[in-house]
Amino acid sequence: MQFGQPARACRRRRQGAPLMHIRFALTFALVACALQAAGAAEVPEPAPGRRAELVNLVRQDCGSCHGMSLRGGLGPPLLPQSLRGQPSDLLVLTVLYGRGGTAMAGWQPFLSADEAAWIVERLKSGFPELVP
Ligand code: HEC
Repeated sequence: MQFGQPARACRRRRQGAPLMHIRFALTFALVACALQAAGAAEVPEPAPGRRAELVNLVRQDCGSCHGMSLRGGLGPPLLPQSLRGQPSDLLVLTVLYGRGGTAMAGWQPFLSADEAAWIVERLKSGFPELVP
Protein backbone atom coordinates (compact mmCIF):
# COMPACT_ATOMS: atom_id res chain seq x y z
CA MET A 1 0.00 0.00 0.00
CA GLN A 2 2.73 2.38 1.01
CA PHE A 3 4.74 1.71 -2.17
CA GLY A 4 1.66 2.22 -4.32
CA GLN A 5 1.14 5.81 -3.32
CA PRO A 6 4.15 7.44 -5.00
CA ALA A 7 3.49 5.42 -8.14
CA ARG A 8 -0.09 6.68 -8.27
CA ALA A 9 1.06 10.26 -7.73
CA CYS A 10 3.55 9.78 -10.52
CA ARG A 11 0.87 8.49 -12.87
CA ARG A 12 -1.31 11.47 -12.01
CA ARG A 13 1.51 13.85 -12.89
CA ARG A 14 2.05 12.13 -16.21
CA GLN A 15 -1.64 12.40 -16.99
CA GLY A 16 -1.41 16.11 -16.28
CA ALA A 17 1.27 16.66 -18.92
CA PRO A 18 -0.94 16.75 -22.06
CA LEU A 19 -3.26 19.17 -20.28
CA MET A 20 -0.28 21.44 -19.62
CA HIS A 21 0.63 21.34 -23.32
CA ILE A 22 -2.90 22.35 -24.28
CA ARG A 23 -2.81 25.16 -21.75
CA PHE A 24 0.53 26.40 -23.16
CA ALA A 25 -0.77 26.17 -26.72
CA LEU A 26 -3.88 28.15 -25.79
CA THR A 27 -1.81 30.79 -24.01
CA PHE A 28 0.48 31.14 -27.04
CA ALA A 29 -2.50 31.41 -29.37
CA LEU A 30 -4.04 34.11 -27.19
CA VAL A 31 -0.78 36.06 -26.94
CA ALA A 32 -0.26 35.79 -30.72
CA CYS A 33 -3.81 37.05 -31.32
CA ALA A 34 -3.34 39.94 -28.90
CA LEU A 35 -0.04 40.93 -30.55
CA GLN A 36 -1.61 40.81 -34.00
CA ALA A 37 -4.53 42.95 -32.86
CA ALA A 38 -2.11 45.41 -31.24
CA GLY A 39 -0.04 45.55 -34.45
CA ALA A 40 -3.09 46.24 -36.58
CA ALA A 41 -4.29 48.94 -34.21
CA GLU A 42 -0.88 50.60 -34.16
CA VAL A 43 -1.45 52.80 -37.23
CA PRO A 44 -4.78 54.63 -37.01
CA GLU A 45 -6.69 55.33 -40.23
CA PRO A 46 -6.88 59.10 -40.87
CA ALA A 47 -10.31 60.73 -41.22
CA PRO A 48 -11.57 60.47 -44.85
CA GLY A 49 -10.89 64.13 -45.73
CA ARG A 50 -7.37 64.03 -44.31
CA ARG A 51 -6.80 60.66 -45.95
CA ALA A 52 -7.54 62.23 -49.37
CA GLU A 53 -5.11 65.07 -48.58
CA LEU A 54 -2.39 62.59 -47.64
CA VAL A 55 -2.93 60.50 -50.79
CA ASN A 56 -2.64 63.62 -52.96
CA LEU A 57 0.36 64.90 -51.00
CA VAL A 58 2.23 61.64 -51.59
CA ARG A 59 1.23 61.35 -55.27
CA GLN A 60 2.04 65.00 -56.06
CA ASP A 61 4.62 66.36 -53.60
CA CYS A 62 6.51 63.17 -52.84
CA GLY A 63 5.84 62.16 -56.44
CA SER A 64 7.78 65.18 -57.71
CA CYS A 65 10.94 63.34 -56.63
CA HIS A 66 9.80 59.72 -56.32
CA GLY A 67 7.69 59.80 -59.51
CA MET A 68 3.91 60.28 -59.75
CA SER A 69 3.59 56.51 -60.04
CA LEU A 70 6.18 56.19 -57.22
CA ARG A 71 8.49 54.21 -59.48
CA GLY A 72 11.41 56.48 -58.66
CA GLY A 73 13.02 59.60 -60.10
CA LEU A 74 15.38 61.80 -58.16
CA GLY A 75 14.38 59.67 -55.14
CA PRO A 76 14.24 55.86 -55.05
CA PRO A 77 11.03 53.97 -55.89
CA LEU A 78 8.44 53.81 -53.09
CA LEU A 79 6.74 50.65 -54.36
CA PRO A 80 5.85 47.71 -52.08
CA GLN A 81 8.59 45.52 -53.59
CA SER A 82 11.19 48.29 -53.02
CA LEU A 83 10.24 48.89 -49.39
CA ARG A 84 9.25 45.39 -48.26
CA GLY A 85 12.59 44.48 -46.68
CA GLN A 86 13.03 47.78 -44.85
CA PRO A 87 11.93 48.31 -41.24
CA SER A 88 8.82 50.51 -41.11
CA ASP A 89 10.19 52.46 -38.11
CA LEU A 90 13.21 53.65 -40.10
CA LEU A 91 11.07 54.61 -43.09
CA VAL A 92 8.74 56.60 -40.82
CA LEU A 93 11.77 58.45 -39.40
CA THR A 94 12.98 59.13 -42.95
CA VAL A 95 9.59 60.62 -43.86
CA LEU A 96 9.43 62.75 -40.69
CA TYR A 97 13.03 63.91 -40.45
CA GLY A 98 14.49 63.35 -43.92
CA ARG A 99 17.98 62.05 -44.68
CA GLY A 100 20.82 64.44 -44.01
CA GLY A 101 22.98 65.31 -47.01
CA THR A 102 20.33 64.14 -49.51
CA ALA A 103 17.39 65.83 -51.24
CA MET A 104 15.03 63.96 -48.87
CA ALA A 105 13.80 66.66 -46.47
CA GLY A 106 11.80 66.02 -43.30
CA TRP A 107 8.01 66.35 -43.58
CA GLN A 108 7.44 66.70 -39.86
CA PRO A 109 5.96 70.23 -40.17
CA PHE A 110 3.20 68.81 -42.37
CA LEU A 111 2.64 65.31 -41.01
CA SER A 112 1.97 63.80 -37.59
CA ALA A 113 3.89 60.67 -36.61
CA ASP A 114 0.67 58.63 -37.06
CA GLU A 115 0.17 60.06 -40.54
CA ALA A 116 3.77 59.26 -41.52
CA ALA A 117 3.26 55.71 -40.20
CA TRP A 118 0.03 55.42 -42.21
CA ILE A 119 1.82 56.59 -45.38
CA VAL A 120 4.61 54.04 -44.87
CA GLU A 121 2.13 51.20 -44.27
CA ARG A 122 0.17 52.17 -47.37
CA LEU A 123 3.34 52.50 -49.47
CA LYS A 124 4.30 48.99 -48.38
CA SER A 125 0.92 47.54 -49.33
CA GLY A 126 0.27 49.49 -52.55
CA PHE A 127 -0.50 53.21 -52.43
CA PRO A 128 -4.01 54.51 -53.35
CA GLU A 129 -4.48 56.52 -56.56
CA LEU A 130 -4.96 60.32 -56.62
CA VAL A 131 -8.26 61.41 -55.10
CA PRO A 132 -10.18 63.58 -57.63
C1 HEC B 1 13.09 66.85 -53.13
C2 HEC B 1 12.97 65.46 -53.47
C3 HEC B 1 12.17 64.55 -52.55
C4 HEC B 1 10.89 64.75 -52.07
C5 HEC B 1 9.93 65.89 -52.35
C6 HEC B 1 10.60 63.57 -51.24
N1 HEC B 1 11.66 62.71 -51.24
FE1 HEC B 1 11.76 60.92 -50.27
N2 HEC B 1 13.67 60.70 -50.85
C7 HEC B 1 14.36 61.54 -51.72
C8 HEC B 1 15.70 61.03 -51.92
C9 HEC B 1 16.78 61.65 -52.81
C10 HEC B 1 15.80 59.86 -51.14
C11 HEC B 1 17.02 58.94 -50.98
C12 HEC B 1 17.80 59.41 -49.79
C13 HEC B 1 19.04 58.55 -49.61
O1 HEC B 1 19.96 58.65 -50.44
O2 HEC B 1 19.07 57.77 -48.65
C14 HEC B 1 14.50 59.67 -50.49
C15 HEC B 1 14.19 58.62 -49.66
C16 HEC B 1 12.94 58.34 -49.20
C17 HEC B 1 12.56 57.15 -48.49
C18 HEC B 1 13.49 56.00 -48.16
C19 HEC B 1 13.40 55.04 -49.32
C20 HEC B 1 14.41 53.94 -49.27
O3 HEC B 1 14.25 53.00 -50.08
O4 HEC B 1 15.36 54.02 -48.49
C21 HEC B 1 11.25 57.24 -48.22
C22 HEC B 1 10.38 56.22 -47.49
C23 HEC B 1 10.80 58.50 -48.74
N3 HEC B 1 11.85 59.15 -49.33
C24 HEC B 1 9.50 58.93 -48.65
C25 HEC B 1 9.09 60.18 -49.05
C26 HEC B 1 7.77 60.71 -48.81
C27 HEC B 1 6.63 59.96 -48.14
C28 HEC B 1 7.75 61.95 -49.32
C29 HEC B 1 6.63 62.97 -49.26
C30 HEC B 1 6.03 63.21 -47.96
C31 HEC B 1 9.05 62.21 -49.91
N4 HEC B 1 9.84 61.12 -49.72
C32 HEC B 1 9.41 63.37 -50.57
C33 HEC B 1 13.87 62.70 -52.29
C34 HEC B 1 12.64 63.27 -52.02
